[in-house]
Amino acid sequence: MLSCRATDEWGERVTQEPLLRLDNVTKQFRTRQGTMTAVDRVSFTLVRGEHLGIVGASGSGKSTVIKLVQRLIQPTSGDIFFTGVDIARMPRAELRKWRSKMQAVSQNPYASLFPNKTIGQNIVEPLLIHRIGSTQERKEKAMALMEKVGVPRNQFYAFPHEISGGQQQRIAIARALALQPELLILDEAVSSLDVSIQAQILHLLASLRGEFDLTYLFVSHNLAVVRLICSHVAVMFLGRIVEMGPIDAIYEKPAHPYTKALLAAVPEFTQGEEEAQVAAASEPPTPYDLPSGCVYRTLCPLASDRCASEQPALQALAGGRLAACHFAQV
Ligand SMILES: Nc1ncnc2c1ncn2[C@@H]1O[C@H](COP(=O)(O)OP(=O)(O)O)[C@@H](O)[C@H]1O
Ligand SMILES: [Mg+2]
Repeated sequence: MLSCRATDEWGERVTQEPLLRLDNVTKQFRTRQGTMTAVDRVSFTLVRGEHLGIVGASGSGKSTVIKLVQRLIQPTSGDIFFTGVDIARMPRAELRKWRSKMQAVSQNPYASLFPNKTIGQNIVEPLLIHRIGSTQERKEKAMALMEKVGVPRNQFYAFPHEISGGQQQRIAIARALALQPELLILDEAVSSLDVSIQAQILHLLASLRGEFDLTYLFVSHNLAVVRLICSHVAVMFLGRIVEMGPIDAIYEKPAHPYTKALLAAVPEFTQGEEEAQVAAASEPPTPYDLPSGCVYRTLCPLASDRCASEQPALQALAGGRLAACHFAQV
């Protein structure tokens, strides 16, 4: 069975070694305004062949989780296991060999490509860095990857600015695949593209999943996009995961009031259904001055005294999901 679990709370045996496991990961930033917690005790497990979407409003900590997984930044506390190895505090020199197994595609394809290098040189770059193959072999591999992502081979000598945004993102994906990663990390990877191009790239990502044996960690503020790609979803609010589990179960019957509000804002998921209630005070709290207890309570129509005094922990509910709400039920 494929599932994403916070193993500690879950109580189920993990039948294979997870590809990625975050265990109580916290990241704090110190700024002129004070200390803020961008990611607060986040735990999840991603098994090979699963595809986890991370959704939530801007500022909820999605990109910070991604940067921690890539070890572009170091956690304040908590552990990050990739292929069973704790990478959270691994020295940079050692990290390199693990990084090749996880590759990322970012939001802005043009900025992620070298503008002075050809399309071919861009795809070949990671192979060169890792000294893989001969010049001819690298060229052949790059050509084959171009074909896989739907860019004609005759664009090999074109420069990034000479191709469209959609094609640039295809090239960024080809380059990410060059080292045969196990984990592909996508942070808002289609958000900057036109809707019709988005659909094509999502279709491509869906077809590459199986062909390259990939596991996706897919961040998006767009819930509809996440459903097309992911088997599981984690919903973040102000640095915390408030609900996670199999995506169909959660989208059909969200348990957390925040997930309900997010889904209610997507017209295609709410046809014929009543709108989710939202509390009168609808300004989210600032991360520098969080409310006591549940971080969502000032926006929550269900909030009671208990929510102010007691922070709800993620707990297992029916249907293989977890939710952090005193009133969550499925
Ligand atoms: N380097 C940093 N220094 C200070 N604050 C940061 C830094 N990176 C992110 N943050 C803050 O952490 C919070 C989460 O940011 P981010 O992970 O980018 O959210 P998301 O990707 O969900 O929009 C935001 O309040 C953001 O301002
Ligand atoms: Mg972000």
